[in-house]
Amino acid sequence: MRVLGIETSCDDTGVAIYDAEQGLLAHTLHSQTDLTTQYGGVVPELASRDHICRLIPLVQQMLDKTGSQPKNISAVAYTLGPGLAGALLVGAAFGRSLAWAWNIPAIGVHHMEGHLLAPMLEPNPPEFPFVALLVSGGHTLLVAVEAVGKYTLLGESLDDAAGEAFDKTAKLLGLGFPGGPAIAKCAEKGLPGLFSFPKPMTDRPGLDFSFSGLKTAVRLAWEASDKTDKTRANIAYSFQEAVVETLYLKCQRALKQEHLTRLVVAGGVSANQKLREKLDKMQGYHVYYPRHEFCTDNGAMIAYAGYQRWQMGVSDPLGFSVRPRWLLTEL
Ligand code: KG4
Ligand code: ZN
Repeated sequence: MRVLGIETSCDDTGVAIYDAEQGLLAHTLHSQTDLTTQYGGVVPELASRDHICRLIPLVQQMLDKTGSQPKNISAVAYTLGPGLAGALLVGAAFGRSLAWAWNIPAIGVHHMEGHLLAPMLEPNPPEFPFVALLVSGGHTLLVAVEAVGKYTLLGESLDDAAGEAFDKTAKLLGLGFPGGPAIAKCAEKGLPGLFSFPKPMTDRPGLDFSFSGLKTAVRLAWEASDKTDKTRANIAYSFQEAVVETLYLKCQRALKQEHLTRLVVAGGVSANQKLREKLDKMQGYHVYYPRHEFCTDNGAMIAYAGYQRWQMGVSDPLGFSVRPRWLLTEL
């Protein structure tokens, strides 16, 4: 049983092949960094067009690399949502067409379930149940996970996602896109304690997040500053610290509330080294992450989630649409 996975929800074209017996056989990714650098972010129409150009060569590359023929592929998994409508449509139309041509099932995968299950591709995967912190560019979710498909939403961001806060703050500080790695790098030269930013919604009960107030606090501090490289680094340091502290406090609260000891952290922001260092210090808990390249968008997580869904007997009818907005709890 081999699943071809296709990810096109935003600006990364990811393709991978997952084998039921041998695990992940191969994965590849084309990141549209040339486009996002040029335009300072993702331009949905350009992202969609780029996916169109990339998919066929990347799929061919994965088939060649794994020595697979179409007849060896048992299902095609593609990202059905959430994400950019045009970008999703490219992957969905391509994945569904391939499945139809090869006469195999197509499986529309939830992008955040892909992130959530990505640590399962690692050598020591977490056992169920666990709490998952999903921190990407579009979503910040705390979820209680009982099993594949059994998700209870514990908390979410009421405004900006954590990754979005990194991206917008990086833009403000003139650090480029994507903001997360840029802020983390800049913060390495920063000093602690020179700026004090709010840790939003940590002083009241509950597991929701809000990052727009923090973003505004950073803007006000930057506008009132001397705008030197040193100040930029100090602001980046304190901003990152505020996000990390906020995520840490909410994770700890969620684990206690759910009486669970395992935490999964996934999505682009889970690549953040400071966040990992802080979470790893939690006494009495075990934290699981995807390897770095599977924190951000990739085809491997879609192939794996597709395989899990296939095992549950899920496959799509011939007609299709995409779901740019789709709650994980609707699964
Ligand atoms: O999961 P992802 O690749 O795409 C979405 O599903 O949105 O996440 C991308 C987000 C971006 O906002 C990016 O700035 C952030 O993840 N990110 C990071 C780091 N690497 C990527 N944020 C903080 N630290 C990082 N090292
Ligand atoms: Zn993602």
